[in-house]
Amino acid sequence: MDRWSDKVAVVTGASVGIGEAIVKKLVGHGMKVVGCARNEEKLKKIALEINGNGPGEMFPFKCDVKEESNIVEMFQYIKEKFGTVHVLVNNAGLGHRAPLLSGKTEEWKEMLDVNVLGLSICSREAIQLMKATNVDNGHIFNINSMSGHRVSGLIFYSATKFAVTALTEGLRQELRATKSHIRVTSISPGVVETEFAYRLNPAEPSKAENLYSSIKCLHVDDIADSVIFALQAPAHVDVNDIYIRPSEQKI
Ligand SMILES: NC(=O)c1ccc[n+]([C@@H]2O[C@H](COP(=O)([O-])OP(=O)(O)OC[C@H]3O[C@@H](n4cnc5c(N)ncnc54)[C@H](OP(=O)(O)O)[C@@H]3O)[C@@H](O)[C@H]2O)c1
Repeated sequence: MDRWSDKVAVVTGASVGIGEAIVKKLVGHGMKVVGCARNEEKLKKIALEINGNGPGEMFPFKCDVKEESNIVEMFQYIKEKFGTVHVLVNNAGLGHRAPLLSGKTEEWKEMLDVNVLGLSICSREAIQLMKATNVDNGHIFNINSMSGHRVSGLIFYSATKFAVTALTEGLRQELRATKSHIRVTSISPGVVETEFAYRLNPAEPSKAENLYSSIKCLHVDDIADSVIFALQAPAHVDVNDIYIRPSEQKI
């Protein structure tokens, strides 16, 4: 990981869960990490906890990835403060219980805006900045899901993650067509114990508790470690697709 020391990363959805763990891991490896989310207080608390202890540093940035203008402002800030960006982790994401037969359109829209469009806009902005500053060894990560590979349960959420599967491979192909060496990795977790299921069932926290106690779930660090695994691979190795389920998960 030495070659990533002092390099610049952006992690979306960094205020809790998998994103927070990825920020901590990258800072631990000496990177300058812009962590973004809507909850600025939580971001600042994480920065206060980790900055000064490790070789790297976290820079909190309030950004709602549903708003294109927020994303553009964030990359402008990155350009002005650091000059460029080397790693993007598209992690911000959410699910709603919004069945195809009865779901609310605004809940479908929010999943599309965050899981698909926010991810695509962040990737475009990051890659344009990489290319403008001759960063040819950059790395884009999409935190996908096992729901991006098989249909089960949350159908619309699953559809957004199937889109992430297509967008990841499509991005790789577009980059290769321009002779770029920027790498693209999709990481597809099974059940990870985070706020995800609590946010999915805001009125019934017992549903999240039951899910997370039904099997030995993945820990957020299991996913952060997989980001490090792909990042530290030699530059000629492009790890494209990682599936990680809890050993006890059936589907
Ligand atoms: N947990 C699992 O079992 C699991 C399994 C497979 C895949 N995943 C995927 O892993 C990723 C992270 O999920 P998690 O489990 O860590 O969930 P989480 O604990 O609920 O965290 C979600 C993160 O996304 C951020 N976020 C949500 N909407 C946002 C928006 N509009 N703009 C910016 N940030 C936003 C949240 O920050 P704010 O609320 O502060 O904005 C938060 O930091 C998601 O893409 C999810 O689909 C999770």
